Order: sequence, then structure tokens, then C-alpha cells
Amino acid sequence: MLLTGAEGLKALTEAYETGYALPGFVAYNLETVQGIVAAAEASEGHPVLIQAGSSPFGHAGREPLMRLALDAATRSTARLGVHLDHSRDLNEITACLEAGYTSVMVDGSHLPFAENVKLTKEAVRRARDHGAWVEAELGALPGDEDVSTNATVAPSTMTDPAQAAEFAAETGIDALAVAVGNVHGFTTHEIHLDLARLSAIHAVTPVPLVLHGASGLPTAELHPALTQGVAKVNVNAELRRAYLQAVAAQLPSALPGSDVVSLWRAGREAVTQAAIRVIAQLTPQSA
Ligand code: 13P
Repeated sequence: MLLTGAEGLKALTEAYETGYALPGFVAYNLETVQGIVAAAEASEGHPVLIQAGSSPFGHAGREPLMRLALDAATRSTARLGVHLDHSRDLNEITACLEAGYTSVMVDGSHLPFAENVKLTKEAVRRARDHGAWVEAELGALPGDEDVSTNATVAPSTMTDPAQAAEFAAETGIDALAVAVGNVHGFTTHEIHLDLARLSAIHAVTPVPLVLHGASGLPTAELHPALTQGVAKVNVNAELRRAYLQAVAAQLPSALPGSDVVSLWRAGREAVTQAAIRVIAQLTPQSA
């Protein structure tokens, strides 16, 4: 079922208060949407966010991907939100809100503080008219959203706890994405979260925190974050890699008969299995 904005925010709040997290899985096409939905259905009521967002719109087109995600969520028995990931565009935010998105992320992290506040406040105002909840970002996360670039962290771009408190109070957001050593995509070097910084942000910022860039993050790094206010965890590269590996393994037997459907099926099933593993990492029992 597609959650309403209020139900989605309730699910996020429950996760925040209980010490587990909702996964935000990035979807690009039919197979990734279906793979994510199947994982949600296999995960016993754990709410899941399909992130049919700004960057994937560039591949699939906004209308087709938006409709696909909303339709798949509506038809499913699982508790699903549909979330706009990383949007800098108020028109795009409005279009997704009007279509029925549960939540949106307005990303003004590239802007000076005052401009980020201004953009975010306007997104919050628009979301309230549609009953949706809003995530914003403060501090900049290195790396690319669609390709692993072996990004490294620059400490100067991490989220400042005092600014985070001010940002949340001024904007009225429902969730805050933080930069605490996390990066988008896989890296060949180990990633260590700055837990002291995360804990300082959590202490002064009364909203659930969001950890982007969770692909490749070991459980030993992830679980302490769930005790420090992180209630939403974004994963993309892990699903992309699973999809590609399965497609590559299937390709030799698919080529002779041009059996493209067998590739899509293999990719979709791999996305499901990868998403199920992530959801298990985020459950209260293992947190
Ligand atoms: P990864 O690129 O590490 O999978 O993170 C995804 C993400 O943060 C999407 O917003």
C-alpha cells in the first residue's frame, strides 16, 4: 500500500524512537521498482521508501518513473512510501507532491546556509499543502549519486552541529540528512563515520537524521548510527552492483536467443535479494 504522508512520517518517527531505520532505495526503472517492492513484501511490515528521484528521472523521464513507483506502491501489500531524492528544483518538488509522493528531499546543500534555509522553507511550505514530509541536507556529501567514484571525505564539508540545530528550527523540516564521513557509492578505502559529530548533531537537533551513502558501510559502522538518531538510510550503489552482477552472469546464456527478459528477471531478483539484506541490517532486532 502507498502510505499517506502522515503515515510515512509516523513510520519514520517510530523508527527514530525505537532505534531502527527505514531504507530509502533508489529506483531507476521497472525492474528496480519491482525488485524493491518484492523486498518490502518479504520483510514483514518493515516500511520501505522507493526513491524515484531527481537523478533517475534523467534516465527514465519524470512522469513514467513517478507513475511507475506510485502504482507499484499502491498495488503492493507492503508499507511503502514514494520519496523524491535529492531535488534542487521547486517545480519538480511540486510535481511530485501533486502526483502523490509521501515525502520529498530538498537538497540545498550546495548553497550558502541562508539560501539553503530559504529554499528548504519554501519546499516545506509546499509539502505541507500536500500532507507530505520533508528531508533536507546540511553539509555536503562527496561522490556521485549514479556512479561509484571512490570519493573521499573532506572534513570541512561535514555537518556542523550548531548549524544543524539552527537549520532544523528555522526550516521546520521533518528529517535532516547529515554529512558525517559518509560518501555516495563504494570506495576502495574504509569509511568511518564520525560518531562524535553524529551524536552532537543528534543531541541538539530534534528531528530524525538521514544517512545517505550507506552502500558498502559495514554493520559495525551502521548500527551505532542507528542509536544516534539515524532513522532513514539511503542505499543505491549496492542495488546497482547486485543488478549488474546478476545481468553479467546471465548474459552468456541470454545472448544466443536474444533472451533479454531473462536478463531483466535476473537483475530484478538480485535487487530484491540485496534490498532484503539491507532491510535485515536495519531492523530493531539487529540494531
Ligand atoms: P550510495 O550511493 O552509497 O548507495 O547512497 C545512496 C544515496 O545516498 C542516495 O541518496
